[in-house]
Amino acid sequence: MARSRVLQASWYDYPQYYDIVFQAYTQREADFIVAACRKYCPFAARRLLEPACGTGRLIIELATRGYELSGFDLSQPGLRYLRRRLARFRLYAEIFEADMSNFRIGQPADAAYCVINTFRYLLREQSARGHLECIAASLRPGGIYILGLHLLPLGGHKEDSDCWTQRRSETEVSVTARLLRADRRRRIEDVQLCLMARSGSKELRLQHAFQLRTYTARQFRRLLDSVPSLELCDVYDFRHDIAQPFAPNNETAYSVFVLRRRHHVS
Ligand SMILES: C[S@@+](CC[C@H](N)C(=O)[O-])C[C@H]1O[C@@H](n2cnc3c(N)ncnc32)[C@H](O)[C@@H]1O
Repeated sequence: MARSRVLQASWYDYPQYYDIVFQAYTQREADFIVAACRKYCPFAARRLLEPACGTGRLIIELATRGYELSGFDLSQPGLRYLRRRLARFRLYAEIFEADMSNFRIGQPADAAYCVINTFRYLLREQSARGHLECIAASLRPGGIYILGLHLLPLGGHKEDSDCWTQRRSETEVSVTARLLRADRRRRIEDVQLCLMARSGSKELRLQHAFQLRTYTARQFRRLLDSVPSLELCDVYDFRHDIAQPFAPNNETAYSVFVLRRRHHVS
């Protein structure tokens, strides 16, 4: 097969490939969301919200499990792909275009979730705080927010490149994620993703560069403290073991925070 040229493009413009990349996490994350709702919500959670839902791998999974889902994103290709998949599986979810730093929903959700560092796309403190405030305003009192992100270990980055391959039917997608630069003062990481997708005789190669905001445990804690309508319940690590919360620290890279909307803010 002749080698295709490398496109400089956003991988979110190729949702049929993006959707495959994180599929191995979907079951475990959905199990954790269900378990966290049971453990932390003072009511039976039915209505779930996913900000920046992308191609909606978790929306499809949780709608299949009987939950009522709402999700939004800025990526039109991602949202179109999600609508097609919902129709194909005869599922329903409320899907719309919005910015996660400033949004509003009609009926409050019982729980919301945002995983795999998506929150770190908000590069400024103001937009990160705006996001958490909008989440609090979208949750029913007692409702929870499950937020998964890598915290920066104090000693620097342990891994600066990661590579993995996933398959679905005829399609194979390989991704290499590289940390190009980390500016500790501005709290910005420059990341480059190289994606190669093969399906039959078709091949696509692309490079996607983007930035993420960095957080130490202390910086994240400070941000949380600035949003009094949310309280921290517990923190988990990449194992997503609901029986094993841990104390947040700078050693644990991927952290899953369970936050709860307070009933009253003093
Ligand atoms: C890593 S993907 C996560 C997608 C999905 N939540 C998942 O778990 O597979 C990040 C998503 O964030 C979206 N995004 C980035 N900035 C956004 C913003 N300010 N508002 C809404 N969506 C945003 C991108 O379009 C992309 O779909």
